[in-house]
Amino acid sequence: MRMYDIIQKKRDGGVLSEAEIQWVIDGYVRGEIPDYQMAALNMAIYFRGMNLEETTALTFAVRDSGECLDFSDINGLRVDKHSTGGVGDKTSLVVTPIVASLGVKVAKMSGRGLGHTGGTIDKLEAIPGFRTDLPIDEFKKIVNKIGIAIVGQSAELAPADKLLYALRDVTATVDSLPLIVSSIMGKKLAADDDCIVLDVKTGSGSFMKTPEKSRELASWMVEIGKRAGKRMRALITDMGRPLGFAIGNTVEVVEAIETLQGKGPKDLTELCIALSAHILNLAEKGEYAECERMAKEAIENGSALQKFAEMVSAQGGDGEWILHPEKFPKATYSYTVCAKESGYIVGVDTESYGVASLILGAGRNTKEDVIDPTAGIYLKAKTGDYVNAGDPIAELYSEKQTGFAQAEERLLAATRISATAPKAEPLILDIVE
Ligand code: URA
Repeated sequence: MRMYDIIQKKRDGGVLSEAEIQWVIDGYVRGEIPDYQMAALNMAIYFRGMNLEETTALTFAVRDSGECLDFSDINGLRVDKHSTGGVGDKTSLVVTPIVASLGVKVAKMSGRGLGHTGGTIDKLEAIPGFRTDLPIDEFKKIVNKIGIAIVGQSAELAPADKLLYALRDVTATVDSLPLIVSSIMGKKLAADDDCIVLDVKTGSGSFMKTPEKSRELASWMVEIGKRAGKRMRALITDMGRPLGFAIGNTVEVVEAIETLQGKGPKDLTELCIALSAHILNLAEKGEYAECERMAKEAIENGSALQKFAEMVSAQGGDGEWILHPEKFPKATYSYTVCAKESGYIVGVDTESYGVASLILGAGRNTKEDVIDPTAGIYLKAKTGDYVNAGDPIAELYSEKQTGFAQAEERLLAATRISATAPKAEPLILDIVE
């Protein structure tokens, strides 16, 4: 086979065979196919797309590009939850202890922030001492003992995705349906979980900007997961506004703790309860309504918060910080962004909110950047709220003062204010089985 012929075939709208796809991924991981040819193929896929069969073959090739984990020595059903990436999305920190406190096993591999979106591993690393790089045996031991552990993706798991993602990130090929499906599901299928619930984001803060595209993404991921023998479900949820009020790392951990204490923002709490209930239902813990009741109770009786503290202690952090979040350090500097005019906030460009938090130091502009855990944004007003000119709409936090002006400019430009109140939009748009 020749890479040239495969690029040409896809460029001209052809359908690649399973053997061709496998050959490309093997060659790329071995370093035999150079980045420029892989980038050209990604761009051809971006414009020409792939059918479900090609996308399945690509996903399985990504999965098989490295080690596939064996969790059979973890007793009981293992569940996973994965978001396609959002702004202020700290649901994993809330949902995983809820379901673990109710008896399902959470053996979770999470990612770091990508582009304007945050990542669970960066958030957990805002807890001093928390180790996200546990050896696999220690990881499994903790899951067996306390029912939950969350670690970063090991170097051996789906290495094709690491290479492909870094290349897509710099060649404007991230938001391609078959490339997102194979990236997410390639990694998920390499870990040995039984049930996977996907939170597929839609709207201005997500990679798929329309509900139609997000639905298609969800149904392909669900279908491919089922083909690999997993129990699958996906929720399509709105990312046309940040989730909760906190965007950043420490601020999001604190907001997740508040949610586990039963005093979290309404939207975040609603989504966390729904995701937990779907996971429990998929794991056969009961009918959906019963699972929803159990998830709410795990918050009310404190068992989910306790489980989060247990996980933090088991992974090297201090569980007392979870029970007393006032211990978390605050950023040295803060700055208040105020509305320039009066009216209702009728909509925001969520991606720009994510970029503003990167500017403050909460994310990376290059792979080498070191995150400032205390950097971020706390929103004082969200879509639907009425503000008067001069009212605070956001509090910015950072260890440096240099980003405030640029972040403020981004936030103000991204916030649309009008005299008429907007129509309330649902947070959960659809469920794909
Ligand atoms: N998250 C991933 O892991 N991969 C993508 O392509 C998009 C979101």
